[in-house]
Amino acid sequence: MTRAASPDLPASLRAALEARLQGVSRNEAADRAAAISRTYRHGGGSTAISSETDALAYALARMPATYAADIASLNALLDIRPDFAPASLLDIGAGPGTASWAAAEAMPSLRSFTLLDANEALRKLALDLLGDAPHLNEIKYERGDARALLAKADAADLVVASYVIGEMSDAERTSLAALMWEKTRDTLLVVEPGTPAGYGRIIALRRQLIAAGAHVAAPCPHDGACPLVAPDWCHFTQRLQRSRAHKQVKDAEVPFEDEKFAYVALTRVPVGQRPSRVLAQPDVGKVAVKAKLCTPNGVEMRDVPRRDKAAYAEARRWRWGDAVGLN
Ligand SMILES: C[S@@+](CC[C@H](N)C(=O)[O-])C[C@H]1O[C@@H](n2cnc3c(N)ncnc32)[C@H](O)[C@@H]1O
Repeated sequence: MTRAASPDLPASLRAALEARLQGVSRNEAADRAAAISRTYRHGGGSTAISSETDALAYALARMPATYAADIASLNALLDIRPDFAPASLLDIGAGPGTASWAAAEAMPSLRSFTLLDANEALRKLALDLLGDAPHLNEIKYERGDARALLAKADAADLVVASYVIGEMSDAERTSLAALMWEKTRDTLLVVEPGTPAGYGRIIALRRQLIAAGAHVAAPCPHDGACPLVAPDWCHFTQRLQRSRAHKQVKDAEVPFEDEKFAYVALTRVPVGQRPSRVLAQPDVGKVAVKAKLCTPNGVEMRDVPRRDKAAYAEARRWRWGDAVGLN
């Protein structure tokens, strides 16, 4: 496995966010974060983010978690394709720039970053934060509707849409998916909340783009139909540490949170034989490890008995989301 990037925000980004909180009332930031979160829960997307304080409150409350989900998905992609070294990135619905920061961290080969988003307050904050990131230098951030901007954009090696497609109608999402794929030179990564609805959007996009010639690099070990049957759904979880400002803005006590997410990484090049994927935290017992795996032949509940010493020792290390079993 290649070096896995940390799910926690880079120190420079955390410091830049916290510096911007100086002079803003913590109560006001917490109130705005709560109002933005309520609007999200009622299907209003990012429409509640309109001022500088809104953008900062949103970034403090949500950027650590969406960053962690992006990093986990990028690490999973690199686990399958360790030689993937993109030079250019298109960050669709970039918001505060989360996916660009994550991709820069996970893939240091990236040189040019193009961010697209409709929200001016988030764009301003993103550019301000990126000013504190000397290693992210070739940056262009365009404001407007993602589809209109994408139609004019140059293709990129890596295209990422992080927590974006849930803010669109089905028709918008289908046409955005086709456009994103058209602008993908190598790999398209789409990340969504790990809810049944988020998974549903991922699986529809996956189906649409496989029909257009895409191959799955992760998480699936095959390009066939998803074998999970409702109410089951494919999702993963990533733990992240909460900073003091993060806790204050979320009015939270616990020093960490677990972000549930769903994702798919689609490539132009067939990946070949892919490992199985661990679909839930395995149950490590004295007699056996019991693990739910998505394999190239479908979902399997695998029992790895203790008497099979080497296999048991390996299975004890399996974690939800890991790719296992090829070597
Ligand atoms: C939940 S935020 C996610 C931001 C960022 N990608 C992240 O992961 O933190 C969704 C973003 O998508 C943008 N967005 C939604 N629909 C859009 C559209 N049709 N065109 C451009 N941007 C859009 C919103 O403005 C918002 O910044």
